[in-house]
Parts: sequence; structure tokens; C-alpha cells
Amino acid sequence: MEVLEAIRTRRSIRKYKERSVPEDLVKKILEAGRWAPSASNAQPWNFIVLRSQGVREDVAEATTYGKFLAEAPIGIAVVTDPEASTHPVEDGAIATQNMLLAAHALGLGACWIGAYGSTYEDEVKEILDVPKNKRLLSIVSVGFPDQSPKSSRKNLEELASENRFGKIIED
Ligand SMILES: Cc1cc2nc3c(=O)[nH]c(=O)nc-3n(C[C@H](O)[C@H](O)[C@H](O)COP(=O)(O)O)c2cc1C
Repeated sequence: MEVLEAIRTRRSIRKYKERSVPEDLVKKILEAGRWAPSASNAQPWNFIVLRSQGVREDVAEATTYGKFLAEAPIGIAVVTDPEASTHPVEDGAIATQNMLLAAHALGLGACWIGAYGSTYEDEVKEILDVPKNKRLLSIVSVGFPDQSPKSSRKNLEELASENRFGKIIED
């Protein structure tokens, strides 16, 4: 799938078929995360593949809006290290987005479950044995899609301007 098409057609998928995700596809998603850019190429991340149903259930239960992780065939937790990068949040976020796009391009569905700064970040870190000095950036649920949700975006004219904030783009 062409990259612009992947960006445009990716949706957050929260319902999955009862079909496991082949190992080579999991590897490709992790590779997409690995090749994300990062500040000074610090690569301050670790990716934890949540294979165990029990672990996914425990993590899902701890989250507020990620209960569907319990029904996903796999999850990937993105951990970032504030001591290893000047921009650990952006680094972890862009690795997460790379993985979302890769999953979509591979015919899978995925959803970003927010974790960084959440009320449950510490609880999930404990479940996953994440060291105290690292942060949980996100959890990504992955599986074959069993829904085709619609989404929307603001009009470009509301967001983009020229030279100064809010200046209308003229033809
Ligand atoms: C930082 C961040 C945190 C998110 N957290 C959650 C979440 O906890 N649960 C959830 O179902 N979706 C979560 N999402 C997905 C958004 O709800 C979704 O991207 C948005 O509604 C747009 O829908 P789309 O991705 O299908 O275009 C999160 C997305 C981002 C970028």
C-alpha cells in the first residue's frame, strides 16, 4: 500500500476477528517502529509484545478506554526512556504511529491506547515489569479487523495557514 493511501485510510480498529496474527507480520510491525525517526537518533524505545491472554486482560482492565485489548490477538506496549532522549514523548509517539500505519498496510487493524501520563500508567508499568525510570508511551492493540469505522477530520482551511498563524491561504 502506498504511504499516502495508508495515512488516509488507516482507522482505529477496536474489534478483531478471532484469528491470530502471523509472526512475520508482528515482526514487520516492530520493524516499522524500529525505523521511526528519533531526536539525535537516540531510539529511546522498547517494544513489548503482549502475547499472553492473561497479560492483555490485566492491562486492558487497568486502562480506561482500552478494554478491547482483552479481545485483541496481540498488543504492543511502547516504552520510552526519558534519560536516553531529549524528546522521549515524540520519539515514542512516532514509533507508535509507524506501527499503526504498518499494521494497516499489512491488512491488520490497530488502535492506539493512550498510556503516557494516564491515571493507569504506573499500574500497567507494574504489570509489564517496566523499570521505574522509563515511561509507558502507548499500548497498541492489533488484529484482523472486524469492523470498518468511519472517521472525520477538520477542514484543511481551519488548520493550515501561510507565513503567520491563522492567515488565510489565498489562491
Ligand atoms: C495519544 C492517543 C491516545 C489514544 N487513546 C485511545 C484510547 O485510550 N482508546 C481508544 O479507543 N482510542 C484511543 N486513541 C485513538 C483515537 O480515539 C482515534 O485516533 C481518533 O478518534 C481518530 O480516529 P481514527 O484513528 O479512526 O481516524 C488514541 C489516539 C491517540 C493519538
